[in-house]
Amino acid sequence: MSDPGPTSVRDFEAIAMTSVGRMAFDYYAGGSDDEITLFENTAAWGRARLLYRVLADVAERSTRCTVLGHELSMPVMAAPTAFHRMAHDEGELATVRATNGAGTAMILSSLSTVDVEEVLEAATGPVFFQLYLYRDRQISRELIERVTAAGCSAIILTVDTPLLGNRERDVRNRFQLPEGISVRNLTARGPLECTSDGGSGLARFVQDHQDPGLRWEHLAWLREISDLPIVLKGICRRDDATRAFDEGASAIVVSNHGGRQLDTSPATFDVLPGICEAVAGRGEVWVDGGIRRGTDVIKALACGATATLIGRPVLWGLAADGQQGVEQVWKIMAEELDLAMALAGCRDVHEITRDLVQLVGEQPGA
Ligand code: FNR
Ligand code: LAC
Repeated sequence: MSDPGPTSVRDFEAIAMTSVGRMAFDYYAGGSDDEITLFENTAAWGRARLLYRVLADVAERSTRCTVLGHELSMPVMAAPTAFHRMAHDEGELATVRATNGAGTAMILSSLSTVDVEEVLEAATGPVFFQLYLYRDRQISRELIERVTAAGCSAIILTVDTPLLGNRERDVRNRFQLPEGISVRNLTARGPLECTSDGGSGLARFVQDHQDPGLRWEHLAWLREISDLPIVLKGICRRDDATRAFDEGASAIVVSNHGGRQLDTSPATFDVLPGICEAVAGRGEVWVDGGIRRGTDVIKALACGATATLIGRPVLWGLAADGQQGVEQVWKIMAEELDLAMALAGCRDVHEITRDLVQLVGEQPGA
């Protein structure tokens, strides 16, 4: 009998482990300090229980949803992740083709290894740009103008990275970008290198270029120079979530950066219900961190999220088989979500309601 190949998105991780070198694999897989948050992110989804409905006529189903006015095939998008050319030579081009091809949106990292203009030329659907604000405000301004001109349709400002978390795998490996791969979008003034001086080259890069002095007041500056919707990524508290909407954000991403920043910060799913309650429908709430199954997506939406993002699974698909690998990851996510919705008794995303999920310590709501 022939090997059926990967049957879940997790299977791609094992393939990726053998197809990229140690330095790249550890960079993609790793978290900060003891990787407690990294572990908890996935564990938390598994702790909640789904109280499925029966006899709900699920013969006709749709996973479609709307995010920032864009109609998507499913409430799962590609999280911004850096350095795709370390996984596959085509890098972010392969990712955008596969992701838009699957009918969903890609968030392009500030640390993309392909020029934003090239990525947008290959795009057939929405691409949002993830922004790190740089010490030199003029560089940030040029970058925002550049990505807007290229056709990105939202700015996702990452707010959980004043400095890079302590990723010990990267320190041990003396992480740096391989020859021929560079950060393409940082400036209009040419690509930037990321090299090690004995420790993590990325930690050094972030320290050299990114601004740890970012404050709420900078959002007004951002809104002055860009008309694009602004999304704040990396929120884990109710007060920061509501403040984001007070300051004019269109959406927030409940995220701890995939367990790569402050270790022992809570699993995103553990804080999601409280944040959605506090936000009370004032804007969209997206969530990422450890989402690996269609059932995880249902739990997120049941607790009030508009959409979810996946980070590492896309990278594993890319490392395993370039564009085709990412296509397979999206196919599996779409099929799993469709099946989970059918089994839960939901015909569309609006039928994914709070009573479907039972959190730890909760009595069944239905
Ligand atoms: C990231 N993440 C990230 N976030 C961001 O805002 N800008 C970035 O450049 C990156 N780069 C990056 C690289 C790698 C290798 C990983 C794994 C993650 C965080 C990412 O957007 C997202 O929050 C998490 O990856 C979600 O968790 P999962 O799905 O990877 O568990
Ligand atoms: C990371 C940065 C680049 O998580 O966001 O590696």
